[in-house]
Amino acid sequence: MCSVFGYIGKNNCRSYVMEGLQKLEYRGYDSAGFACLDSDDKRLYFSKAKGRLKNLATLLKEKPMDGHIGIGHTRWSVYGKPSQKNAHPHFDCEKRISIVHNGIIENYHSLKEQLTQAGHIFHSETDTETIAHLFESLLVSHKTLKAAVVDLVNQLEGAYAFLCINQDYPDCMIMVRKRSPLCIGIGDDEIFVASDPLAFINQTKKVLFLPDESFAIVKKDLIELYEFSGKPLTPDVQELSIEWQDNQKNEHQHYMLKEIYEQKNVIHATVDFLHAMTDQIWDHLSLTLEQVRKLDKIHLVGCGTSWHAARIAQFYFETICMIPTRVHLASEFRYMPFFPDEDSLYVYISQSGETADTLEALRLVNSMNLPTITVTNVPSSTMVREAGGFLLTQAGQEIAVASTKAFSTQLSALYWLAHRIALEKRIIDSVQMEQAEQDLLVAAEVLENTIENYKRDICQTHAPFYTQFDRVIFLGRHLSYPLAMEAALKLKEISYIFSQCYPAGELKHGPLALVDEKTPVFIFSHSEPLIYQKIVSNAHETKARGGHVVAFAFEGQHELIDLADLSFVVPKVKTLLGPLAMIGIIQFFTYQIAKNLDCPIDKPRNLAKSVTVE
Ligand code: M6R
Repeated sequence: MCSVFGYIGKNNCRSYVMEGLQKLEYRGYDSAGFACLDSDDKRLYFSKAKGRLKNLATLLKEKPMDGHIGIGHTRWSVYGKPSQKNAHPHFDCEKRISIVHNGIIENYHSLKEQLTQAGHIFHSETDTETIAHLFESLLVSHKTLKAAVVDLVNQLEGAYAFLCINQDYPDCMIMVRKRSPLCIGIGDDEIFVASDPLAFINQTKKVLFLPDESFAIVKKDLIELYEFSGKPLTPDVQELSIEWQDNQKNEHQHYMLKEIYEQKNVIHATVDFLHAMTDQIWDHLSLTLEQVRKLDKIHLVGCGTSWHAARIAQFYFETICMIPTRVHLASEFRYMPFFPDEDSLYVYISQSGETADTLEALRLVNSMNLPTITVTNVPSSTMVREAGGFLLTQAGQEIAVASTKAFSTQLSALYWLAHRIALEKRIIDSVQMEQAEQDLLVAAEVLENTIENYKRDICQTHAPFYTQFDRVIFLGRHLSYPLAMEAALKLKEISYIFSQCYPAGELKHGPLALVDEKTPVFIFSHSEPLIYQKIVSNAHETKARGGHVVAFAFEGQHELIDLADLSFVVPKVKTLLGPLAMIGIIQFFTYQIAKNLDCPIDKPRNLAKSVTVE
């Protein structure tokens, strides 16, 4: 989604803003902009560019500008298409006020109508511009800056974080947060502000996370923090121990490939990390032993790839610790009837820990005082701060939009957690717990070796061949159905090939009509003989209609392998870890197809890494 960055202090702002935006560019990259108040004449200068941040950097080189106070933005469009006109910052009529914004102003339409009738002239299609014009009019009707901000924030509906600089108040910046992340970094006579602390963590580790529904009026050496009502708040400044990892692609052409190859190591790291904390795990998750022993339902909530991890983990919790488990798409969860249940555990799965739908679903359950935990990759994320407890995967920063190592470490952490609950409930013993950890390491080994086995053939033959198809059907059963969904998501988001996934048993209830020689069917096998046999039948049904089958099979599954036009064969692992063992070859194959199509793999069109609007 969009990211915002601001600086006010003793130094010039531009280099900080551009460096911060570069670290946050994974959040949105369809346009970028910068505004500052010139140190000498105190007037507002700005520059905006369509496309990636590097376009803005070029513009700023051609027409340099700088000052002690400045704001910047990278955009992921919601209202208004990607264009220079819609790029942030946005302004009031006089171009004295400048705003950068992440989120959505839901009532912007009616506000814009009122403001237009009052004579304000709009220059963009965005909701953000409304904030600037509304603020302009409120500054006229209120005596103080603070009173105008209070009125402003109480008129805006939605979820948003925005920064504002104003030529008439050249020594201060306004920062507002409602249900969208925003944090302030406190330096020595300088203040940084960003959507994510990682953007300024090289400059300062003293961080104030703005409380929800609060705003700050900030000078280089002073922070005034207020509730939306105007009541002052005491800033709660924390010392963070996170570091910015200077993540290079090294020898790889794309981050996605690098991240695919990191999986074996990060699964190891995740298992080691969890193993080391096994004795303190319930304290860490803010759960009592009694709560764990009484657990009789688990709810798993997530979006996209994290939702697929949840769908697979459902089998873990139901099979290993025999707890009925429901999986929810976060975007639907909030709008469904809710039945509070004290002996339930709500688990929120999110790579970023910032996904707006998942966060709102977490807040809903938190408000009912039910136990919540998050499984995430980002220790400084909002979900870590807001969930009752958290379990960190050890994937390290994931940069490519397509999630790979986050998925495999989520599966590992959830598999481990299912065993740890089973141990607490005395369903398994400590020997079985240790075996589970070993099994995860074996699956990680298989994941990597399988890529190695097929690497050459995929690069030279298979990937170029499959670029000719415009659409692909994906089929799986039981555990391999969510795996097939994840495979379909990978292919569609990075190659733009239309990929449709079905539970294999549904084939003859409709999708079979789509099967022809131009529509390959990717079938994902299962190591249980009963389920495998049904999958073989689905492959026969496809072949009998002239279909082209690509099988992802386990060793020894000869009937399926012989039937397929192409097969990838994976050594057998523990049945429940089949998806983990198989995911590497799927990611690698889809990556190579997209690469052959010359797609911008790490930053696919229309997408962003962290989806911070609902
Ligand atoms: O950060 P999260 O795990 O909450 O993100 C959820 C989805 O937005 C994410 O998994 C998305 O589907 C990926 N692009 C998939 O590769």
